[in-house]
Amino acid sequence: MLPPDQSSDAANSAAAGPSRRTFLKQTGGLLGVALAPPLAGQAEAIADKMAPASPILSGPTNVSLTINGQTKNLRLEPRTTLLDTLREYLDLTGSKKGCDHGQCGACTVLVDGQRVNSCLTLAIMAQGKPITTIEGLAKGDDLHPMQEAFLKHDGFQCGYCTPGQIMSGVACVKEGHATTDAQTREWMSGNLCRCGAYPNILAAVREVAGQQAKG
Ligand code: FES
Ligand code: FES
Repeated sequence: MLPPDQSSDAANSAAAGPSRRTFLKQTGGLLGVALAPPLAGQAEAIADKMAPASPILSGPTNVSLTINGQTKNLRLEPRTTLLDTLREYLDLTGSKKGCDHGQCGACTVLVDGQRVNSCLTLAIMAQGKPITTIEGLAKGDDLHPMQEAFLKHDGFQCGYCTPGQIMSGVACVKEGHATTDAQTREWMSGNLCRCGAYPNILAAVREVAGQQAKG
């Protein structure tokens, strides 16, 4: 036999309609019925959509990259960034990891001639495109003119941002975006230097562009 309080609760709830617990159970069940199938359906639809275009979504996979004119065959998780690939798997540590969030430019490399933040680029996205890193700029002992100009103008202090600055400078000149001091500053603004070498960096990039910086 139920204690008096419970039996009276039961009696009351029977009279007053479903109890709170019954209500939660019922609504939970209803929500489950209402939400579960569409969510499952959506996930399947997304998986179906992704499957044909990107059959490799997880697990190590073969990746072939052309870096500084050399083909490198690797087996990587698809989520591996180009920066980690260069630094961790290929020992190309010239490209630096500053913020790892696309905000400092220390990791700048050229992919198909375009500057990219390699920390925001997946290695698999760069397949089939020529990749140039700071290690690929010099021809033997002959430095690239941008490297020479950085040395001449003392365009670095600690040097941590320098590889990214140089790669960005090379592209900036090639794009024709180094024709004035103001334009050069604007188009180099994605490359941060914590050591305050900006005027010297500007001077180096402007020199390679064929003009003298006016400060
Ligand atoms: S490390 Fe890539 S932008 Fe900072
Ligand atoms: S030279 Fe030190 S961060 Fe630029």
